[in-house]
Amino acid sequence: PAPGWSITADVVVVGSGVAGLTTALRCAAAGRRTVVVTKARLDDGSTRWAQGGIAAALGDGDSPEQHLADTLVAGAGLCDEEAVRTLVTEGPDAVHRLIAAGARFDTAAGSDEIALTREGGHHRRRIAHAGGDATGAEISRALVAAVRAADSGAPDAPTPRGDGRPADLRTIENALVLDLLTDAEGRTAGVTLHVMGEGQHDGVGAVHAPAVVLATGGMGQVFSATTNPPVSTGDGVGLALRAGAEVSDLEFVQFHPTVLYLGPDAEGQQPLISEAVRGEGAHLVDADGTRFMVGQHELAELAPRDIVAKAIMRRAQEQGVGHMYLDARHFGAQMWEHRFPTILAACRAHGIDPVTEPIPVAPAAHYASGGVRTDLYGRTTVPGLYACGEVACTGVHGANRLASNSLLEGLVFAERIAADITANGTTAPAAAPVEARAPLPLLVPEARTAVQRIMTAGAGVLRSAASLARAADDLDRLQREAAEAAVDASPAAAKAPEPGVEAWEATNLLCVARVLVAAARRREETRGCHWREDHPDRDDALWRRHFRITLGADRT
Ligand code: SIN
Repeated sequence: PAPGWSITADVVVVGSGVAGLTTALRCAAAGRRTVVVTKARLDDGSTRWAQGGIAAALGDGDSPEQHLADTLVAGAGLCDEEAVRTLVTEGPDAVHRLIAAGARFDTAAGSDEIALTREGGHHRRRIAHAGGDATGAEISRALVAAVRAADSGAPDAPTPRGDGRPADLRTIENALVLDLLTDAEGRTAGVTLHVMGEGQHDGVGAVHAPAVVLATGGMGQVFSATTNPPVSTGDGVGLALRAGAEVSDLEFVQFHPTVLYLGPDAEGQQPLISEAVRGEGAHLVDADGTRFMVGQHELAELAPRDIVAKAIMRRAQEQGVGHMYLDARHFGAQMWEHRFPTILAACRAHGIDPVTEPIPVAPAAHYASGGVRTDLYGRTTVPGLYACGEVACTGVHGANRLASNSLLEGLVFAERIAADITANGTTAPAAAPVEARAPLPLLVPEARTAVQRIMTAGAGVLRSAASLARAADDLDRLQREAAEAAVDASPAAAKAPEPGVEAWEATNLLCVARVLVAAARRREETRGCHWREDHPDRDDALWRRHFRITLGADRT
């Protein structure tokens, strides 16, 4: 549909997790007219669900070099070393700036020092946490408070800030971004969006701006069971693909090893049991009560998470059961209540008391290690389009993200993007935009469940040529049905869906699922979190490379 309203800005930030809000605050502080658009409320994304913490070389005896080494090992040969070096070197100061901006981290008993824990793949205690196991919630609280304080109110109705300067940060909630606008030279010129129930800017509209930052988070909802909230539907990757941007490494979906097991048919967002529980000494045991990680890896339960997830799946298959157990009864009630209050409450809400019984756990989709390919300043291959956080593929994660590097990535690269935007004179009015891409055949909202089941069956933790081929066929069939329904969209036929959020989300899920499966089919090896049953070994000679894909063409 044609936009019914439009506003103008210097920067549009799409998404409101750590990556989006940090970028927005920085751009606004530098005087750029910044609009944040977000699909639900400001704090509804993945950031607030992060438990374990944020990794940075903050502790005595630790160093960015050691953090770099652990990140490269986890990334299984596919990290971009320069990007990782940037992350680990700039990380500690970025965390201190976050603290200065109001985020409160847990401190060691009786001191002001930040308390640090361990997680999988880290040889040092380097994970800062807040509220015990509610790190993301605290970071989100601090950033949302800062954004609300800076928000001038309705777009195009600026009010003076406390310091007398004109306000330059505005937020639009309940706004699903549809597509990128580009000018005649193919440069970014803003976005179209569908806003629901936000008064003056309701319905389909446009924000014209020469810089757009995608910070839309992940795509965990492409699978049936995930730790991701319902909003994680791959919207940013879908938009970027439609805009002609390059995506990379989509086959590397990380499955978190320890997610509360709620039965074989559990669907939607599942409760996470943080790696930090293992970091504080919990044991993984099988159906017989045996610790099966000991002897499998020098770090036992704290091996990188792809190794732990595979070991859980293997032992569950051997024993013919659906899950393993995480045993932390030895923590005692007091430690559980103090250190892991969120997890304790989630387990108890499902009738499991970790103080007195082991927790049933199984892997579930958790994190997209790949995404929209960027350089070290978050620039994508489309001029003026940036990507930051989980939606991006900066190269820091390679084939498998190291635990707790994600909040850090959002923080560090947000600052770099804001620096690039403010250094590069993007305040010029956007050139007259051309219309967005041709309308897509939208999926009916119910197709979301179909996509999730197809992906879980064919492209989950265990993959093979046969399972992936089935998934590809089934996804193609969904795509054909959507195209036929769009052609046959006469009121009498009434098959085409209303172009609302649910239809767009299902459409984006199908788009990213198809690209993910295509990449997973091509990678005929097992590496990081991509596990091919029919190609169980890592093959550096053939496959130490990235699959870079644009819609309509791809290259390695
Ligand atoms: C966790 O707390 O286990 C999640 C940490 C992460 O995904 O980095």
